[in-house]
Formats: sequence, C-alpha cells, structure tokens
Amino acid sequence: MGNISEKIRYVGVNDLQKVIFEGMWPLPFGVSYNSYLVVDEKVALIDTAEAGFAREYMENIRREIGDRKVDYLVVNHMEPDHSSLISMIREAWPEVRIVGNAKTVPMIKGYHGISDNIHVVKEGDSISLGSSTLTFYMAPMVHWPETMVTYFNEEKTLFSGDAFGTFGALDGGITDSCCRLYGCTDVAENTFEAFREEMRRYYSNIVGKFGQTVQAALKKLSGLEISRICSTHGPVWENHAADVVSYYDRLSRYDADNGVCIVYASMYGNTAKAAKALASELEKRGIDYAVHNLCTENVSYAYRDVFKYNTLVVGAPTYNNDIFPPAYNFMYGVSARLVKNRNFAAFGSFTWAGASVKLLNEMASKLGFKLLSEGLSFPQAYSPEKCDMSALADRIMQERG
Ligand code: FEO
Repeated sequence: MGNISEKIRYVGVNDLQKVIFEGMWPLPFGVSYNSYLVVDEKVALIDTAEAGFAREYMENIRREIGDRKVDYLVVNHMEPDHSSLISMIREAWPEVRIVGNAKTVPMIKGYHGISDNIHVVKEGDSISLGSSTLTFYMAPMVHWPETMVTYFNEEKTLFSGDAFGTFGALDGGITDSCCRLYGCTDVAENTFEAFREEMRRYYSNIVGKFGQTVQAALKKLSGLEISRICSTHGPVWENHAADVVSYYDRLSRYDADNGVCIVYASMYGNTAKAAKALASELEKRGIDYAVHNLCTENVSYAYRDVFKYNTLVVGAPTYNNDIFPPAYNFMYGVSARLVKNRNFAAFGSFTWAGASVKLLNEMASKLGFKLLSEGLSFPQAYSPEKCDMSALADRIMQERG
C-alpha cells in the first residue's frame, strides 16, 4: 500500500470489524475508507477516515510524509466515515487549511466545532500545491448536499468521494490492476467484475435515491479527461475507470437487465411456496432471476437486485389487513429510492380477507411500474390451482419479447 503515483499516496484503511454499515447494511467483505495525499511543494490530504482508525490512519500519513506537515485538508464529503478524523488532523497540524464549500462550513462547525482557517471554494476554483493543481467541482447529493469532487489536473485524476465507490475491503493492493475483493473466493475475470455485485449493492443501498443528481454529476464530469478515479470506497480505478463510469451511468438511469427479482416474506411458508413455484417456472423458461427472502436475509441484497433486473415480483401475506411488514418496509425502500421503469407483479396468501396484493399494486403503481397481472392473492394453503405462477411466468416471458 502507499504509492498510486509519485505524487498520489494512499493513506486509507480497511474496516474488517464493522458488521453493519450505516447501522443497516451488512459488510461480508468489509469496506475501505480511502484517503489520499497529494505530495508536492505543499501537501494536501483528501478526506479522512472513520473514528476508530485514528492510530492506523495517522501512521499511514506519517509513513508517507515523515515530519512534513499537511498544508491542506480537502473535505469532499462530511459523512462521518470520511470526516471523523478532521479534528485529529487539526490537532496534529494546527495550521492546516481546511478546504470545503459553503455547505461544508456549518457541518464542520456542527461535527467538530471548527470554524476558522477554512478555505471556502466554489465551482471551478483551484489551489496550487506547486506543480500540482487541484480543482473543485460541486456534486450536490452524491451523496450529501455538501458533496464535491476534486480533480488533480496534471494527473487527470478524480478524487470522487462516494461516487464510483463500492463495498468490499481491498486485498493485495489499491489499484484495479492488483487488488482483490477481500475475503472473496469467487474467481472473477477482472477487478471490476470482482467488485460489480458489491458496487451495485453499495449504489442501491446508499446512493440509490439520487439517480438524478448522479446523472447531473456525470454530465458535468464528462467534460474532464479522467484517467484515474480515486473514490472513498473500493479500488482506485485505472484500467476500468471507463467501465465504472459507464456502470454508474446505467445504475443512475435505473437501466436494468432482462430478468426477475423475486422478493418475498412469509409467516408460515405458503407465500414462500408460491415464490419457489415462480422461480421454478422462470427456470423452465430460461429467464434470469434472483430470489430474496426478507424474513431471513438483510434487505440490502434485495435492493441490489432491484437495481439489476427490469421486473420486480413481490410476495407478502396479508397481515392485520395490510402488507406483511417486512415486505411493506421493502416496498417503502424501493419507493424511497425512486426506482423507475420496472415491470411488477404481486402475490401472497391470506386467511380470511386479502389486502396485501392490492396494496402492493398500489405502491407499485405510484412508482409508475407496469403491472403485469392483477396479482395472485390466494386463501390459506398454497396450491398451483389457487396461484398460477405458470401464467405469470408466461406473461413475464411475453414482456421480454
Ligand atoms: Fe462513504 Fe456518504 O459516505
């Protein structure tokens, strides 16, 4: 770890202890909090790391610059996974000039009580470190309102904050030519493919709501020549920089593959049997699909595949004359992510009066989803006669063309 180029040094850390990110999202492969130094006549530090890594993080910085001082601390993003150590940096180098924008300033005050020696930048402003120039572009709501990105002009390198980030700690190296997804034994064609699933899970879980602002940022950045992307999470993208930009473009347009994301929750197994029946019918027809049980797995994975496939089928029994809560919460999350352009169908069991399918259809309709059927609501025990998944699979096949 260390050098990305002569002037760009990696000083980030791998978090292999945290089990749940943001209190909600599992981390089976860990996560990295990336931070970078640009070392020239002056030294700029770009973002920091999470609070628990203070010692390791400071050792990383000292390893790279020895007794030199940090002149600038560029704050691209104030979410605490990247900003928690601002106070520590200020204590280590009291003269450090913090670089942020007008929206960063009150957040730094609120989180750290710091309001002096802040260099406020706006769109297109630059600072010089000697022969290196850093230029700042605002990227609001990618992922917070104060978010900005930093472009190192001479090295065509974008310090992109959360944009182009991914879950998964780094193993073996930092750049995409030499790093692997920590703890993953699957053999992937290349680093981009190795991280693709975790990148989509990260995008859908964390940034998914902000498709429109990601699109605006991509449009703005399309005017820059970018040969290296240094995100705050995951590998430094060099060989696959274009692949990563293209993938974020697709995800933020809610563009999806032909296929079906089946998501269900079941109390006594009848709605589960219906889900399995649909999977079996799709399998027979050669339609790609994924199945997620909301009662046994974190919803993170279901969101990941909502962003993968163009058809969403949700199963939930009726509960208190409403949607069974795990499925309601999931649909609330789909709504909150402003997911667009999906085909939809619902199914579920009830005992004395059905409500869940109708209510799921209403939630889907509000999102503009195309209903492929009126829904499959069945009383008491599942049977193929009561819940015809073969017909639904045919309808999905027909929609595929
Ligand atoms: Fe990785 Fe929005 O912070």
